[in-house]
Amino acid sequence: MTAELTSLKTSLEGTGRGRDPINILALAIERFDHIALSFSGAEDVVLVDMATRIRPDVAVFTLDTGRLHPETYRFLELVRERYRLDLEILFPDTSSVQELVRDQGLFDFFEHGHKACCQVRKVAPLRRKLAGLDAWITGQRRDQSEGTRGDVDVVESDTAFAGRDGSLVKFNPLAHWSSAMVWDYIRDNDVPFNELHARGYVSIGCEPCTRSVLPGQHEREGRWWWEGLQHRECGLHAGNLRKAG
Ligand code: ADX
Ligand code: SF4
Repeated sequence: MTAELTSLKTSLEGTGRGRDPINILALAIERFDHIALSFSGAEDVVLVDMATRIRPDVAVFTLDTGRLHPETYRFLELVRERYRLDLEILFPDTSSVQELVRDQGLFDFFEHGHKACCQVRKVAPLRRKLAGLDAWITGQRRDQSEGTRGDVDVVESDTAFAGRDGSLVKFNPLAHWSSAMVWDYIRDNDVPFNELHARGYVSIGCEPCTRSVLPGQHEREGRWWWEGLQHRECGLHAGNLRKAG
């Protein structure tokens, strides 16, 4: 563990509120100038709400894959206006997308898996963004997937990407929160939410690769449902797959 990570963990433990998202966000924002929150346009909006209370001009970015739901685009705009965010919308490299769809068509992921498309549309733009940062903040939670996210820590070293000086710190302030706690926060604080949530969608990603779930189904069953559970990470959080083995 790097000295920096040890110091961050010690600071959090010292507060006695090491699992409290607001506390974690406050430490992250206070310690790092080159830090940004990655917002997917789903229930991770709670982090936008919390972070803007701490620093109104906190840096927030979204990866626009070009395949999001119309509802998600509308929601991104709603959040941008509501919180007066300087929301950075990141696009994939034009020639890489053109090459991808020329060679593989628009729906190859149903046949050959989602990796190639996610790589071009999500992972590469994220890699470019993170290269200019020292730390980033995500909405990952342990309860989203026992298999791949069960070990997610509130602060960890991101070994899948490199930051400005090579190393990169990753904060997951919601790691210990359950879905129910997130939704209690949304209701209690009148936080806006993606209209897809009212139609049975729980975990929301790209339109072709996301579907609603039935009562009792796990939220991850609505993502890349045609693939095995262990493959349901798109590469943004590749470190999880290494941990899960
Ligand atoms: S994914 O890897 O399976 O797509 P998930 O939808 O669970 O991730 O979201 C977990 C966290 O990853 C989000 O809270 C957010 O921090 C980040 N993330 C996922 N998709 C995006 C996106 N399109 N833009 C920005 N951040 C994202
Ligand atoms: Fe492509 Fe689906 Fe991955 Fe979105 S989630 S980048 S559409 S494979």
